[in-house]
Amino acid sequence: MTSVSKPTHASTIAYMDLYARWEASNWSAVDIDFTQDRADWQTLSELERDAIIWLCSLFYTGEDQVTDDLGPFAGALDREEQLYVLTTQQVDEARHSVFFHRFFTEVVGQDGDLTQTLRAAQRCAAANSAFATVVTHLDAVTAQLARRPSPRALAAAITNYHLIVEGTIAQQGQGLLTEHMCMGRLPGLRAGLTQIEHDERRHIAFGLKLLDDLLKDHPQAARAGIFDTLSRLAPHLAGLIYPPEPAYLEVFGIDRRDVIAAGFRSLTTKLAAVGLTASEIPGWVIPITLTDPYAIADRVQLLEQHGVIATPYTSAGPLNDTGVALLAEAIARSAAPRRPLYLEVRARDRDQRHVFLIAPSNDPQPAGARTSVDVRLSADADDLAKLARGTGLPRSVRVSGSAAGIRALPTLFPAASQSVRAELARLLRRVPRR
Ligand SMILES: [Fe+2]
Ligand SMILES: [Fe+2]
Repeated sequence: MTSVSKPTHASTIAYMDLYARWEASNWSAVDIDFTQDRADWQTLSELERDAIIWLCSLFYTGEDQVTDDLGPFAGALDREEQLYVLTTQQVDEARHSVFFHRFFTEVVGQDGDLTQTLRAAQRCAAANSAFATVVTHLDAVTAQLARRPSPRALAAAITNYHLIVEGTIAQQGQGLLTEHMCMGRLPGLRAGLTQIEHDERRHIAFGLKLLDDLLKDHPQAARAGIFDTLSRLAPHLAGLIYPPEPAYLEVFGIDRRDVIAAGFRSLTTKLAAVGLTASEIPGWVIPITLTDPYAIADRVQLLEQHGVIATPYTSAGPLNDTGVALLAEAIARSAAPRRPLYLEVRARDRDQRHVFLIAPSNDPQPAGARTSVDVRLSADADDLAKLARGTGLPRSVRVSGSAAGIRALPTLFPAASQSVRAELARLLRRVPRR
């Protein structure tokens, strides 16, 4: 899959160098020649065309979204050179949208002005719920940044924008298009995508540089902002490359496992560039704390296969025994204990009990039949699944344990919505202490 740049530490990046690179690499979206693309388009099968339209629609929607959402960053930056680089990025994002508008009208043959082709792309992209969640969250974090600029809000917005939308989604999508879908054909589309990829590398470098500065000047606020976004969006990352039809990837010989692994590798490379590791991130159902990207991809596919997480083609649950065991492990992984402790996760309606030794920044270790534990969490299996997916705090959930154990476990589900986290915190405060 697409190559990922080597982890260069962000402290080596200079704002004025990014500006100079922008001047040196200016290109024209209106000059790209689509003559051969129009001829090539006629030779593609309907399935191949639909697949390319789907992925380009995600791209086009994303480009427009980031053009709109860049504005609030200006109010949170205080150095002139940061603002100048920001301005170059905004010009780039508009240019990328213009390029996709031209592709849709001149190659695909759609009618309408930019607003109309964009609306069509947005309708196509909206079918991918993970993508919709990530871009909607970007709207929310940038709106928050506009209302109350702060180092934490800025770090949260950069993480969503530069690390996830650009560094994880756009770079992977670009690789799928140029290395598979347009290989040996559609030269105009490939030429534009190559230019876009160069621009995006600069944008990501800018985001990493800003994050690195924030981590130096406001370490606690910056880390909180980064982890807020990562833990909130991590459950959706694997769903980003789910086309409406599996055949959209199969027809080009693309293995989704490779795409998932490349996406997570890309994300961890970017985190490394600002001195962070995934093991510091409060986890969620998807185990982003695993170090091997293929181990993450395999776990994701296992979770999908056993109904723990839904896909566009299969609903989540009903869970089989393996699904419950995977879910219990995911819950243990999501816990962020202050010290090592034993956690029991029990599916009451299944008579399934799983005990783990959990410790800060470590993978949970299965503790077999151990009966003495610090904290017990139980619910019916389907309710455990709802809790782990962050969709609510079902009534059947029970927590009990020692006072010291509860104190060491301030939150079980850092990625849950604020209301679920608040409810869980209340539940933890109310638990019978032994
Ligand atoms: Fe872009
Ligand atoms: Fe960008």
